Amino acid sequence: MASTYYFVTIAILALASVVLVRASDPSPLQDFCVAANDSKYVVFVNGKFCNNPKLAKAEDFFFSGLLTPRNTSNPVGSTVTQANVAQIPGLNTLGISMVRIDYAPYGQNPPHTHPRASEILVVLEGSLYVGFVTSNPDNRLFTKVLYPGEAFVFPEGLIHFQFNMGKTNAVALAALSSQNPGVITIANAVFGSDPKISADVLTKAFQVDKKVVDYLQAQFWWPNN
Ligand SMILES: *[C@@H]1O[C@H](CO)[C@@H](O)[C@H](O)[C@H]1NC(C)=O
Ligand SMILES: *[C@@H]1O[C@H](CO)[C@@H](O)[C@H](O)[C@H]1NC(C)=O
Repeated sequence: MASTYYFVTIAILALASVVLVRASDPSPLQDFCVAANDSKYVVFVNGKFCNNPKLAKAEDFFFSGLLTPRNTSNPVGSTVTQANVAQIPGLNTLGISMVRIDYAPYGQNPPHTHPRASEILVVLEGSLYVGFVTSNPDNRLFTKVLYPGEAFVFPEGLIHFQFNMGKTNAVALAALSSQNPGVITIANAVFGSDPKISADVLTKAFQVDKKVVDYLQAQFWWPNN
């Protein structure tokens, strides 16, 4: 009896350690799991319901929007076109997704993080100054200037950015290790939250005058994706 408990305990600990070291979305347990939008007859799996596989069609795995240039006339000068499980239901449980990013001359994809994904970005047109910052206490900045065909990695959860240094438009494609990577744009989250974070918190956190915080909180923080 005691040995049964012992083995059960070992098994639970082993399972827990697998869960703890998991770095991206769990591996799928079936060929695919097309995301369903009607929860009436489905089972909850990994964030999205699975459609009956018999109802799957090629369109569930298809997206045509990645070669379409997007309008970048906005305050940050960039637009992100997402291709994740929200656009491609067949990505459900597969742990990958993509984006296209269009940049106006001197436009940027402002500092942001993906809470659930690492990213690899490749420049298709133009040139980009890209970088990420490591966690505390070092906060090391890694940067590179990328030209067409060159790629750079942004590790999961770290704050990163891309800036179009050129006088022409730039375009990049990126792959992410989650079907639903999430985005936290730093300025938008900190200064554009709803409701606003208390100015007492932000004046001390950023070591600035309350006027500066009031100014920043009064801005409209453009969501570029
Ligand atoms: C699911 O969404 C698709 C595309 O928006 C729509 O055509 C379909 O009718 C929806 N199905 C259900 C069951 O709501
Ligand atoms: C791009 O967006 C801006 C601002 O909304 C608008 O004025 C402009 O006409 C758009 N350009 C195109 C080509 O759609």
